[in-house]
Amino acid sequence: MKNSKDIINYINKIPKSELHLHIEGSLEPELMFKLSKRNKIEIPFKSIEEIKSAYNFSNLDSFLKIYYQGSNVLITEEDFFDLTWEYILRCNQDNIVHTEIFFDPQSHTERGIKFNTIINGIDKALKKANSEFGITSKIIMCFLRHLEEESCFDILKQALNHKDKIVGVGLDSSEKGNPPQKFKNLFEAAIKEGFVTVAHAGEEGPPEYIWDSLNLLKVKRIDHGVQCLKDKKLVETLIKKNIPLTVCPLSNIKLCVFDKLENHNLKKMLDKGLRVMVNSDDPAYFGGYLNTNLIETTKALNLSLEDVKILIENSFKSSFLDESTKNSWLSKI
Ligand code: HPA
Ligand code: ZN
Repeated sequence: MKNSKDIINYINKIPKSELHLHIEGSLEPELMFKLSKRNKIEIPFKSIEEIKSAYNFSNLDSFLKIYYQGSNVLITEEDFFDLTWEYILRCNQDNIVHTEIFFDPQSHTERGIKFNTIINGIDKALKKANSEFGITSKIIMCFLRHLEEESCFDILKQALNHKDKIVGVGLDSSEKGNPPQKFKNLFEAAIKEGFVTVAHAGEEGPPEYIWDSLNLLKVKRIDHGVQCLKDKKLVETLIKKNIPLTVCPLSNIKLCVFDKLENHNLKKMLDKGLRVMVNSDDPAYFGGYLNTNLIETTKALNLSLEDVKILIENSFKSSFLDESTKNSWLSKI
């Protein structure tokens, strides 16, 4: 039996993959302040401390309001590059060797920013990540589910010019009241164009949203999915089909999905044989990057070294890497 110091050492050293990370959610207060000055964009905060003290959320919607407001400072290709590069430096520190990142084009195009500006800034930083650190990555474009399907179709059309950079499409933003069936036609069109699909489901929303994401949106992964334990049949199906659930423990606490980390259901999910792994979601807002998420969760849920190993193996198995690259990482764990 290893003690917790050994497990923390293991977490820090082992190569990891991250599958649920919103690049706009890695915007640290320091960079937000710098960009607000560089672009002369007013933000309703006078200092970095004021920004940080505003990060007290009661649910997903209360977070999204601040998160979209923060994104307003992102204007130029250089801004998107800087944002992504800062996240990559964190990956390098945390020994994340592969990352699959979300971006929310509509939160920028709705402000008049060009799609090309966003994707090119992100993509250039990811290419540099590969050449400087050997970090590999995929980009997943998320649709904002509070918007109408029609406006999402416009964005899908723009993404067609960037199929070389964007591997898949996802669904994020305000979950309750915006069910998967609202986007059935959109996801069908995306699949026809060759994109893989994922969706946030069962973060705050009911198990039915997970069912519908599987059946209507044909997703390969469920983002969050922590509400699945309320439905026994759903759990059986997720296990049988080996559907990954990209769980984000610190996010769930900050957004009050669970009252405290000790009461998070990750260990229960793991013990049932669900394909779960740990991710940081929006680390600049939720108090920690991947290693912090893993370490805090290990301590709170008393995870064993074997539990942690399975979480890390799952992070590679569930990625969109090709099989031989997956196997090569798995053999190193
Ligand atoms: N849920 C839904 N939308 C989001 C999230 C999330 O956790 N993070 C950024 N956009
Ligand atoms: Zn998310």
